[in-house]
Amino acid sequence: MPPTRIIIDTDPGVDDALTFLLALASPEIQLEALTTVQGNVAIEKTTRNALSVLEFLKAGDIPVARGCSRPLVKAPHASGEAVHGSGGMGRTNLPDPASKPIEAHAIDYLIERFMAEPKQISLFAIGPLTNVALAIRKEPRIVDAVRELVIMGGAIRSGGNITPLAEFNVHEDPHAAHIVFHSGIPITLIPLDSTYKCLLTGDDIERLNKIDSSIARFVRDATADYMAFYLKYEGFNGCALHDPLTLAAIIAPELLTLEEHYVSVDISGGVSTGKTYADFMKVSKQPANMKVALDVKGREFVELFLERIMSLRGGVARIAPRRRSNLQADGEIASSRRSRSSQ
Ligand code: BDR
Ligand code: CA
Repeated sequence: MPPTRIIIDTDPGVDDALTFLLALASPEIQLEALTTVQGNVAIEKTTRNALSVLEFLKAGDIPVARGCSRPLVKAPHASGEAVHGSGGMGRTNLPDPASKPIEAHAIDYLIERFMAEPKQISLFAIGPLTNVALAIRKEPRIVDAVRELVIMGGAIRSGGNITPLAEFNVHEDPHAAHIVFHSGIPITLIPLDSTYKCLLTGDDIERLNKIDSSIARFVRDATADYMAFYLKYEGFNGCALHDPLTLAAIIAPELLTLEEHYVSVDISGGVSTGKTYADFMKVSKQPANMKVALDVKGREFVELFLERIMSLRGGVARIAPRRRSNLQADGEIASSRRSRSSQ
């Protein structure tokens, strides 16, 4: 089976960065590009972090397109800094990236890539859905061109993590989520109901750091403040692997309990703004618009995550040859790399 080709729309963000790491450590996945959006931190920082983390992973040839700096309607909320640190990357201290984002705006880049190869590439959205919603508005045919859209977002039966009812990514741009959910694009939703069962613990970090690897140290430094936040507010020594769990849709779908439901989001402006809800009793008579991961074998996913990260014990050197062969097989990415190096 050839690897699944993916583009990640992201607001890095500690768990976003762990998602890039897991993607690059997984032979089932070919990571082709990142598009950035404001969310955990401002767009300048999410874009810088995307470039820096890729360079750290010796994957700086993967294109990064900068996207939206504000949600569609509401004012941006800077609360992600409390969890992800003021720079967005915890206690890591990655140097400024040498590379720059490509010239195209994320919205145009997404449209170009998906329309050029309909149904060939999947989109993973692990930040607020602003870029995805605007891409749909600008080029509605993208809805049929995306092979699958996997979203980290929402809290269906679970409580929220940014308001008592709402999950951060959806709450940060509820209007964008509303557009995307009702667009007809094939969606798999990974909500807090599942991600809170995937807890990376302090013991896991110790286990990981028994090996001498810059990647293990990166995971430790990135997650240190994230874990301190969870200890203070949620009472456990660990952190949830929210964004990395989206990749289970490719690397371990058997761990997810998926159900098809009609799901919407409250944009009425009241206390439940940003709340995602499923019509379990089918009272609205609306057809299902997505698959939702309502449960997961959480510990098994965390073990798989650790195994993949540990497989990079030789550092980034293991990534480079595989990425190179993937990229050589892909003319379009190779040409986008050339256009970047000429900037
Ligand atoms: C989501 O919010 C962000 O803080 C994380 O990166 C993740 O995408 C979890 O609610
Ligand atoms: Ca995120």
